[in-house]
Amino acid sequence: MKTFNIALAAMFGFAAFTAQAAEKSSITNAEALTKKYVTIAQTVNPEFVSSVTEGKIFFNRKFKLSSGKEAACASCHTQNPADQGKNIITGKTIAPLSPAVNNKRFRSLDKVEEKFTEHCNEILGTDCTAAEKANYIVYLLTERTPTAKK
Ligand code: HEC
Repeated sequence: MKTFNIALAAMFGFAAFTAQAAEKSSITNAEALTKKYVTIAQTVNPEFVSSVTEGKIFFNRKFKLSSGKEAACASCHTQNPADQGKNIITGKTIAPLSPAVNNKRFRSLDKVEEKFTEHCNEILGTDCTAAEKANYIVYLLTERTPTAKK
């Protein structure tokens, strides 16, 4: 029953989010999305508050892949999410993740959810929790300055 309520709460919240998403900036969207994830995380742990520090640790944390190799979100998205990343598998460049630098990020809930599911499964071997997603986005929101080119 609890799981059902969480799913329902998530659905209603997300419907409202998607409706507003179109006109707002990436930062506004990212902040709104964080609130949704926080709300879901609090249904599991009422004391949950999002943490930039936890988000940063998670972003850089190396996980052992099924191949035996290690990778972190930072492996492709680089240690500074305001910088352009590079896909360690395909070698293709990846536009910065930080919504302050890249106005295309965190605009579409469907895309964000899809990417979280895809990458979390790839790296952690399971989807990320709402708490991890909330922390991840609040951390990205703080990274606003690309690394100076040498
Ligand atoms: C193997 C390389 C790789 C790794 C490792 C990786 N990502 Fe990604 N990520 C990508 C690519 C490629 C994109 C899509 C780029 C695009 O759409 O421009 C992306 C985009 C995203 C987006 C979409 C944001 C948006 O709104 O456009 C999210 C969220 C994301 N990644 C989360 C994560 C998380 C969380 C981790 C660590 C658990 C992670 N990624 C690790 C390659 C990677």
